[in-house]
Amino acid sequence: MKEISLDNTSRKDFHQFMLGSVIPRPIALVGTISRYGVPNLAPFSYFNAVSSIPPVLMFSLSRKGIKGNKKDTLLNIEQNPEFTVNMVSYPQVWPMVLSSVEFPSDVDEFKKSGFSPLESKYISPFRVKECLIQFECKLREIKELGENTHDCTLVFGDVVCLHVDESILTESNRIDPFKLDITGRLGKEYYARIAPESIFSIQMQTNVMPTGYDLLPEHIKQSEILTANEIGRLAAIPLEIYEKYYQSFQNKIKKTSENLSLNHHAVREALLTSDDDKAMSLIFDL
Ligand SMILES: Cc1cc2nc3c(=O)[nH]c(=O)nc-3n(C[C@H](O)[C@H](O)[C@H](O)COP(=O)(O)O)c2cc1C
Repeated sequence: MKEISLDNTSRKDFHQFMLGSVIPRPIALVGTISRYGVPNLAPFSYFNAVSSIPPVLMFSLSRKGIKGNKKDTLLNIEQNPEFTVNMVSYPQVWPMVLSSVEFPSDVDEFKKSGFSPLESKYISPFRVKECLIQFECKLREIKELGENTHDCTLVFGDVVCLHVDESILTESNRIDPFKLDITGRLGKEYYARIAPESIFSIQMQTNVMPTGYDLLPEHIKQSEILTANEIGRLAAIPLEIYEKYYQSFQNKIKKTSENLSLNHHAVREALLTSDDDKAMSLIFDL
């Protein structure tokens, strides 16, 4: 493994390693308003929800150029401690990128990027009409990171209200990721689109004790057929199922490479149909 730290890497390169490593990052399209009433819009991908109760979003701003001037978004929030956060889906990526250009502070970035300003209910900055999820936030805290020139500033916002387009809600009133078509930022100039074919589900029963990797028989741990994920899936089967089969089959195990191979393929089939009982019984059925 290549070791990378600020001791052996320039700040610029280190920044790229950070950007390329923690991916995909969601993109906050942040709407603010200047003290002269000019609407401002800019994307930030050092961004996340950091708490649900209380509901808090956080994003981070670097400074501009060598002089280290504050970005308009930060100046605006310091003067008017409110902002909107609008989530960026695939149809909004190009206008979002346009809004990242450093236009002068008296330029309305809604107009430049082509986004439609939508009045917020509780705060003065506009929401972005085209975005399917829009947050209204009031400033909770501004925290400076860095030693000398304030390398970076964290902005925490209390979510006053969240607007969700009805078209992305399921019948059970949950946000449907298949309909959101959300985008994320990767390293360099790359982005990711969370398209339906890249979404999968994991139903792990967190309130039930799992078997755990350590209890799996050696032939499963050493398997050249089963993948690490399939072995992990076996280890996630509830312990009580493991105990049921371990007790009844433990005297029966006779391993040959041929029956091992057949057995591991059969285990895979059982996992594909989410048949925990069958998968666990098979691993002792040799
Ligand atoms: C997808 C994307 C993500 C970005 N993420 C950040 C970020 O996390 N922090 C940051 O300081 N700048 C980020 N930028 C750059 C800002 O959007 C850019 O500096 C912008 O001009 C700031 O606008 P403002 O001066 O109106 O606040 C990002 C740009 C893009 C395109």
